[in-house]
Amino acid sequence: MKILFVASECVPFSKTGGLADVVGALPRFLAVRGHEISVLLPRYRGTPPGREAVRLAIPLGKQTHQATLQAGPGQNGVQFFLLDYPPYFDRENLYVDKGKDYPDNAERFALLARAAVEFARQTGVPDLFHCHDWQAALVPVFLKSVYADDPQLARVPTILTVHNLGYQGLFPADTLERLGLPGELFRLDGLKFRGKVNFLKGGLVFADFLTTVSRKYAQEIQTPEYGHGLDSVIRRRAATIAGILNGVDYSQWNPETDRFLVANYSRENLEGKRLCKKDLLQHFRLPAEHLQKPLVGIVSRFAAQKGFDLIAEAAEKLMKNDLQIVTLGTGEPKFEKLFRRLARRFPQRIGVRIAYDNSVAHKIEAGSDMFLMPSRYEPCGLNQIYSLRYGTVPLVRATGGLDDTIEPFDLSTGRGTGFKFRDYSAKALLGCLARALQLYARNPGAWQQLIRNGMEKDYSWDNSAAEYEQLYRRVVKFPQNG
Ligand code: ADP
Ligand code: GLC
Repeated sequence: MKILFVASECVPFSKTGGLADVVGALPRFLAVRGHEISVLLPRYRGTPPGREAVRLAIPLGKQTHQATLQAGPGQNGVQFFLLDYPPYFDRENLYVDKGKDYPDNAERFALLARAAVEFARQTGVPDLFHCHDWQAALVPVFLKSVYADDPQLARVPTILTVHNLGYQGLFPADTLERLGLPGELFRLDGLKFRGKVNFLKGGLVFADFLTTVSRKYAQEIQTPEYGHGLDSVIRRRAATIAGILNGVDYSQWNPETDRFLVANYSRENLEGKRLCKKDLLQHFRLPAEHLQKPLVGIVSRFAAQKGFDLIAEAAEKLMKNDLQIVTLGTGEPKFEKLFRRLARRFPQRIGVRIAYDNSVAHKIEAGSDMFLMPSRYEPCGLNQIYSLRYGTVPLVRATGGLDDTIEPFDLSTGRGTGFKFRDYSAKALLGCLARALQLYARNPGAWQQLIRNGMEKDYSWDNSAAEYEQLYRRVVKFPQNG
């Protein structure tokens, strides 16, 4: 099949989170299965240029923007196209500047969506558009409205994958007109949402099929608790939603080959992990004599989603335990402040790096004993799956993909891969940590078993790619929303 992916970030061109990991990996695994995959992305300031492939005149409301699509380096059978339009994308960041969304995000990502459709019109229609998150959610909207009379394009089915329902692309009511979309879409069974235009809702209503990135999250988003106001819209699509768990790109995340580590290691020989721990303590300037003490790692976007208010609430009690913490992240200033404050309060025991740094992310995965993800919600979560492979025991809140990927350790059977808590409370988090610390301190044999159980798990993309393939076949045969 010929499939066009449309997304706002993708490793190795651009990344703020797991979306980029997924869009960077899944196409390769589909290409291996014989599909012809192209990926359309914006070319941001940090994205190296490709060679000019197609010139596109992209109408958006009263204006027509002259953009180019550059062909990025083809990788393992996947073709990347970079939408080059400097006025919109040649900027310091992807979406946000100094904590505020860029004011023209509606135009920027409407341009991406319409570029995808125009690209298809000029160079040949794909069998399917696979769109990711709110930034690409207008593709089905354009197809079912502006292009509804185009005999070829209007028939091409669309899949929207929701990586995170918390980000919806909300804009003022007059946005549709500015983008050249019919005003009549501003209705409750269209893009209208609490008096605003909601891009993601447009995708949820008009795409032929919806997916999310874990089974659990596919159920959760149909409830008011996790629906971010869109649960009723999603419930109406219940027959056309699938939860397909993300995979891991083990060519990037594997302690046996990881080039960011001082020493490599495997399930059979964990000696290198000790060296990685030593290196990590050194990196964060924590005392080397603490090598025996449990080290808890955190790598995260600093966003409310990730449960940092629980860490703030639990901090004093948490630090009564004999442990150390290393944290890597950037994001909301209040969480950056929280971690800076904690590092000042416990300079010998908490190391904090406010940055985005892939090499340090790898070092933390390898050098920590435990990895903490107390998320309020988590569509899939990749770090806990990386942790498993690195022999780093995940401590997670039982939500979304965290719940689907981590089995609680059971001392009586020796089975399980981590520790989970259910209530979103500081108390439950502390209880979970206490159980982990107890096993670590009192039962080294069981702890080794737990580490090995995790390292044995296989979350490679092959399985998930096969699930997407099945879905593609079904949607191409029977579009649901025509
Ligand atoms: P989300 O997409 O919600 O941020 P995921 O767990 O799916 O969460 O993916 C996060 C990805 O981003 C992982 O690959 C993780 O290593 C990476 N990451 C997050 N924060 C940082 C950071 N500060 N530095 C380097 N990598 C980071
Ligand atoms: C989102 C989610 C995360 C998921 C990632 C990739 O950013 O927050 O849970 O793993 O997308 O699908």
